[in-house]
Amino acid sequence: MPNPPTIGLSIPRSDGVSKVTGAAVYADDIRPEGCWYGATVRSARAHARILSVTPDPTYDWTDVVVVTASDIPGENILALITDDQPVLCDGLTRHVTEPVALVAASTRDKALDAVKHVLVVYEDLPFNLDPELAEGHAQHIFGPKGEGGPGAAGCTGWNVFKRITISRDGPVRPTTTRHVHEGEYHVGLQEQLYIEPQGIIAIPGDPAAAEGTAERMLTIVGSMQCPYYIDKALKRVLGHHDYHVVQAATGGGFGGKEEYPSMVAAHACLLALKAGRPVKLIYRRDEDLRATTKRHPARFRIKSTCDAEGFLLDWKVDILFDGGAYNTLSPVVMSRGILHATGPYRSDRVHMTGRVVATNTPPNGAFRGFGAPQAQFAVERHMDRIARELHIDPILLRRKNMFREGDLTATGQTVTDPGAAAVLEAALNAAAAPVKPPSSTPGARGARTKSGQGVALVFHGCGFTGNGEAAIRGSVTVEAALGFITVLTGSTDIGQGTDTIFPQIVAQELDIPLARVRMAPHDTHIVPDSGPTVASRTAMVVGGVTQIAARKLGEQLGARGDALLGVLDGLKAPVRATHQYEDDGTHPWNTETYVGDAYPTYGWMCAIVDLDVDLDTGEVRYHRLVTATDVGKALNPVLASGQIEGGALQALGWATSEEVVLDKYGCMRNDRLTNYIIPTSADAPEMITRLVEIPYAGGPFGAKGIGEIPMDAPAAAVAQAIERATGRVLDRLPMTPERVLAGPRGS
Ligand code: MOS
Repeated sequence: MPNPPTIGLSIPRSDGVSKVTGAAVYADDIRPEGCWYGATVRSARAHARILSVTPDPTYDWTDVVVVTASDIPGENILALITDDQPVLCDGLTRHVTEPVALVAASTRDKALDAVKHVLVVYEDLPFNLDPELAEGHAQHIFGPKGEGGPGAAGCTGWNVFKRITISRDGPVRPTTTRHVHEGEYHVGLQEQLYIEPQGIIAIPGDPAAAEGTAERMLTIVGSMQCPYYIDKALKRVLGHHDYHVVQAATGGGFGGKEEYPSMVAAHACLLALKAGRPVKLIYRRDEDLRATTKRHPARFRIKSTCDAEGFLLDWKVDILFDGGAYNTLSPVVMSRGILHATGPYRSDRVHMTGRVVATNTPPNGAFRGFGAPQAQFAVERHMDRIARELHIDPILLRRKNMFREGDLTATGQTVTDPGAAAVLEAALNAAAAPVKPPSSTPGARGARTKSGQGVALVFHGCGFTGNGEAAIRGSVTVEAALGFITVLTGSTDIGQGTDTIFPQIVAQELDIPLARVRMAPHDTHIVPDSGPTVASRTAMVVGGVTQIAARKLGEQLGARGDALLGVLDGLKAPVRATHQYEDDGTHPWNTETYVGDAYPTYGWMCAIVDLDVDLDTGEVRYHRLVTATDVGKALNPVLASGQIEGGALQALGWATSEEVVLDKYGCMRNDRLTNYIIPTSADAPEMITRLVEIPYAGGPFGAKGIGEIPMDAPAAAVAQAIERATGRVLDRLPMTPERVLAGPRGS
């Protein structure tokens, strides 16, 4: 008799109880014996030579250690895409808040006090915060090429981290009328604002380690998305590999814990080695806001041509992303940005160029959506511009141009599913229900309000771009022992629920009860590298690898279902099966020309927002957000809806309330939760969340990636709704009350 299915059921999250009861162990809950506390001395300059770093001779340095670049046993490089970012400044700083030195002391207060007594002498150099000026002024700002500035090996230009062109020429259709529309669209910085700030503990010495390595063996434990990114980065910094990286319970990441924890981990290790004891490095919230990566600001210029009925003939885009002072992941973020800069719309001809450039702000980095939300805000605003200028209904314009099966994307990939139409119609159906009046009226509301509804349609490439998966080849091991099956994967659960989803996949594949499947700790000494926990790839790609590993294990044991349970109970020694991702060659991609299948598949989403605008204050109040999202297959519907609703609320924050204000040196001024305003549950509107299931044959049970797509659509829907309510056209995020009131009126 088959066991009950687990896929498609809303199994409660396996970490739910520990999190709501407070039992879950986060980085700051870990208190190793004799642990000291770390703190970071940060650059006060946007660009300067550092002439000296000196501990104040009048300060009491008893029980305090200070680490500078000269203490690094390996290379002073934070390895990621390019080797341009130091672990600690050595002679030069390129952005405010850049780490210059580290201290550790027996108490956190003592460490924070000691930071103020590390004296740094600067010689100021010219700096630039404006990406529009970055190219022309780079020599002036950064000095002559070759002095070790940004734009080192692997970059296309000295101050241009990456430049990409996408071009596809189709037939020129004979048409009498050609309408040209031009617009410029801007998006600002956004902070990931995980609830738990960055935090890592490094613990030196491991009595269990092999002879000779016990002394220098390090355990690195903390808040992170990608244990193997840290593993890789530390090898360069430490000059050896006698350490392991362990994920603690992680209070959110959203991309902010993709690459940045490598920096925190390197610093914690350097302090632990110097202090000869465990060191905990937990960022304060204000420090985290000022110093860590944010969503890239970007500027898009779009020039389109369409015929009299609004069918797109020609689509030209010029894209500029502000990378900040170092590469980090900027080339890949801009790549995803340009690949989404047509939105889910076909055009006979597409010509797009994108650049991501260096400025002297803290580096921008991974954030849920990874360039796609920026691009699709611009695209959707441009579609609204066309609709406005041609007097076409915006929904009709989208229906006319949206991708259908057989259409070609900008890179020449054939669209293989009807997702765009499916989510648009599903959302419109759901939105036909009357909007409930808001149950409460937060704050004083003026009498003069106008309401409006806005619609946006997006797509999102699931998983890595192009050859990414084939290059990384993530592995998963599944082990049978002691009556249980254990999943060993480097993919972390950062709140999205994959520690619950993976066991569901294994239980269903082997037809055994969910209670017989467990997760191994995400520890690099225990689990294989499954690739990073990013790019909406974990459930779809790593879940697929897990499913095949489980199938192999079942075959090895010669049983599934209840028979397998008998085998499990009788095992004398553990049995393991590992599967490594194999590229099936069905999605050819050219990394140089950007021609081919950019992604294995695409998810689709339509958002319809109802809001009102206070005409006196410019404040926006959300009434309802309807979304329809193609998820391929909802492996766990409650978790899938949670991903979508959380991501959509994050997008509403990006739309109207989240504004990073930089001072003239590029330092975030509003570095508190009182003045960097994210939506809370009290600000969340009623949400109607429809899951559309168009199965993807390459995903486990048909699943597509869903982590990032909810970030893509809502902001543009909000802009359209504000336009419909007030007649004001807003082409810049965030749409703060001041911008709403100042917005120009559409023609
Ligand atoms: Mo994610 S923004 O791909 O960590």
